[in-house]
Amino acid sequence: MNAHAELKAPLHSADASTAEEALARQEVIDSESATKVALQNTLLTPRFYTTDFDEMDAIDVSPVRADWDKLIAQMKADPNKGHFKKNEDWDHVDWDGMEPRLKREFIDFLISSCTAEFSGCVLYKEMKRRGKNEDITTLFQLMARDEARHAGFINDALREAGIAVNLGFLTQAKKYTYFRPKFIYYATYLSEKIGYARYITIFRHLEAHPEHRFHPIFKWFKEWCNDEFSHGEAFALLLKTDPKLTSGVNKLWIKFFLTAVYATMSVRDHQRPAFHEALGVDPVWYGYEVFKKTSEISKQVFPLTLDIDHPRWQPGLDRLEVANRQIADGRKQGGVGGWLKRQAGSVRAGAAFLSLLTIPSVPNEVPVETRLQPAY
Ligand SMILES: [Fe+2]
Ligand SMILES: [Fe+2]
Repeated sequence: MNAHAELKAPLHSADASTAEEALARQEVIDSESATKVALQNTLLTPRFYTTDFDEMDAIDVSPVRADWDKLIAQMKADPNKGHFKKNEDWDHVDWDGMEPRLKREFIDFLISSCTAEFSGCVLYKEMKRRGKNEDITTLFQLMARDEARHAGFINDALREAGIAVNLGFLTQAKKYTYFRPKFIYYATYLSEKIGYARYITIFRHLEAHPEHRFHPIFKWFKEWCNDEFSHGEAFALLLKTDPKLTSGVNKLWIKFFLTAVYATMSVRDHQRPAFHEALGVDPVWYGYEVFKKTSEISKQVFPLTLDIDHPRWQPGLDRLEVANRQIADGRKQGGVGGWLKRQAGSVRAGAAFLSLLTIPSVPNEVPVETRLQPAY
């Protein structure tokens, strides 16, 4: 094959070496309704973030150099290249025969996951584009590559159902939320690690109960979560470059982000009862498993964990969920009555969140050695 032919050979996003290449492989199918869902900005939907890129570019990774170089080498070796595409393990999906409620919730799950993956891609790609610090740009390019493949793969699955999220349009049209770099570290570290815990918990559960695997995408979750695990490792090392990030008043921020991320996940998962039923998973059990794993992992860098066994923890999550349903009902109802319902729901949600936030946390002695291997 000559060089010209090689250039023209079709390439799947799974085989791409950079985020730009992977995204260029996405056919532009505009599926208005899916893109509209992805555009939504509520407390519960995945957001797009922007930050002070110059401040992030100034990070000096020398204090964690040895671990850093090892992690980057591992990511550069790219063990998952070519993995995120359909192959003979991809069973036929009977979208038309799927129970309508399950279908609706599952599509919602795919769109929301695709948006979350792509949100990471956009942030990482932007950091790579703006930065001059080679350590930082190298890392962010590698992470953007992975997230673009993940988002592309979910879009492959959605396309079979006749829908797709228009990623190019989303980049332009979605609102960006500004977070200071340290908040990006807390939030992104947590979302990568909780992403790992979520995917591996589902993967292990379906390994034991394959009869509940109602869609082939779950078979890909193991390698998938290993990517997220590495991304989380990178943020753990970034957090280790400056002890101030995990001490003093920042401990309160860490507690706030832990509580917000766990609570959001719990409320969001309860919105998909048919999806969890099809998987044979009780959302309360699932939440507890994911929080337990994430807490255990986050001890690598956070000076505290949440007390998820505290008598106020689960009731607080339950109250938050009820309040959230009230807000959704009010929005649907509209008018003055709906508005009042929404206000009352917001007050209840605030009180429930405060009750969770004031549960005493469990102090943790952060180990000298940061690096972990995926162990679940
Ligand atoms: Fe991802
Ligand atoms: Fe990730």
